[in-house]
Amino acid sequence: MKIVVAGTGYVGLVTGACLAHLRHNVTCVDIDKNKVELMMQGVSPIYEPGLEEIMGEGCSSGRLHFTTEYKEAYKDADIIFIGVGTPERADGSVNLNYIYKVAEQIAHFAEKDCLIVIKSTVPIGTNEEVELFIKKKIKHKINIEIASNPEFLSQGTAVKDTLYASRIVIGVESKQAEKKLRDIYERFNIPIVITNRKSAEMIKYASNDFLALKISFINEIANLCEIVGANVEDVAKGMSYDRRIGDKFLKAGIGYGGSCFPKDTKALHWLASDNGYEFKTVKAAIEINENQKFKLIRKAKKKFKSFEGLKVAVLGLTFKPGTDDLREAPSKPNVKMLLEEGASVYAYDPIGTNNFKKLFSEGIEYVESSEIALENADLAFIFTEWKEITSVKLKRFRELMRNPVIFDGRNCYSIEEAEEAGVEYYSIGRKSVGDLQSVSKLKSNLYYFIDLLEVANDVVCSDNGGR
Ligand code: UDX
Repeated sequence: MKIVVAGTGYVGLVTGACLAHLRHNVTCVDIDKNKVELMMQGVSPIYEPGLEEIMGEGCSSGRLHFTTEYKEAYKDADIIFIGVGTPERADGSVNLNYIYKVAEQIAHFAEKDCLIVIKSTVPIGTNEEVELFIKKKIKHKINIEIASNPEFLSQGTAVKDTLYASRIVIGVESKQAEKKLRDIYERFNIPIVITNRKSAEMIKYASNDFLALKISFINEIANLCEIVGANVEDVAKGMSYDRRIGDKFLKAGIGYGGSCFPKDTKALHWLASDNGYEFKTVKAAIEINENQKFKLIRKAKKKFKSFEGLKVAVLGLTFKPGTDDLREAPSKPNVKMLLEEGASVYAYDPIGTNNFKKLFSEGIEYVESSEIALENADLAFIFTEWKEITSVKLKRFRELMRNPVIFDGRNCYSIEEAEEAGVEYYSIGRKSVGDLQSVSKLKSNLYYFIDLLEVANDVVCSDNGGR
């Protein structure tokens, strides 16, 4: 069976390489010549652990091919997976141009009966519309059918998430399409959920948006914890033992980023509005996340009225560890604000620096380690919990920084460590160690006054007694 994968981004490339790893014959198509040349040599255009290994294995076994020649590829394909990007438009709706471009090419060049499988995240109803579109434009007398097969991989663990996925969702309208996809996926040995196309499309949005909601919920709990003096880490731990809640996606921080949650929450909200329904929970999650991104900088603004002339260490740039992706990374608006306010920014990220340089070419000193960034810094921000960053102890921050004032957006350190290290430490949903110090100063001043009052009272009493 000839399998073709259209698009070699996170979804397409990982799908192609994993299918080849499980002994399928796969041809990956992309229009970018440079990218294809690299991939033919087994080099991955994206940073993804384990991907180059299985790409190399696929290329050398002859099961994995890369080409720009889509005409040739589509001509005799049995199955075409579409994994091209579906970026968001300014109004939150989904831009399906890439999907339709591929659909048009398939309509022109496919010469054999073919199942087309959309893996990209697309609004509900898209599979049906693309099928009608291709059927209208088809050149040869062949049967085509569209199936939905959404992807649930996370960046940084994409290969593992694909090979050992929690489930495979297949949305089909015919038994033949179901059988073809079952044949492909049975060797993955993973639970398969079969449904119709619209439900499959909805499963993807519902899953992603539910996780985004969970994060925004714990972030709001964190914000309230700060006000009432509770600790969000303990709260999340306490909640997690309830198996109905679980321990995943309860990590408070400066908000979710990446290529999926921000886009998919806006898309579902848009889709609901377009259908005359107001999706209130998702709307709230979007608003909370927007606000959460600036949580740390607002705290820093309370302490430093201005960042002008201050040396600021920025640790972590990517939207999460394990990826070089900067899409919707909270670091970006924060660094922008720091630069606008005249701060001297020293940034460190183990993988994301080159991509960040493309966005912020001037005004930032990019350095090779957290320690270099921290030298003589007046304050530090942690935006991503890379191991290379969290392995530096807070004591070391104190030794290196001019002013050990740390704003940690990912709760990388315990409050105890911050107290012991003697740093001023602000995190998310937990007491701030800087405030504690001023509280204890206040307390000791108060005790001093009470002592004074008691002495004065003794003097007055002894005076009275003398009368
Ligand atoms: C997500 C989904 O997990 C995946 O199933 C889907 O296919 C694509 O979208 P991804 O964007 O790669 O994957 O990253 P994920 O690990 O889910 O994290 C997304 C964002 O949420 C990151 O910015 C992360 O820092 C944040 N996050 C995650 C939290 O703030 N708290 C958490 O508890 C978990």
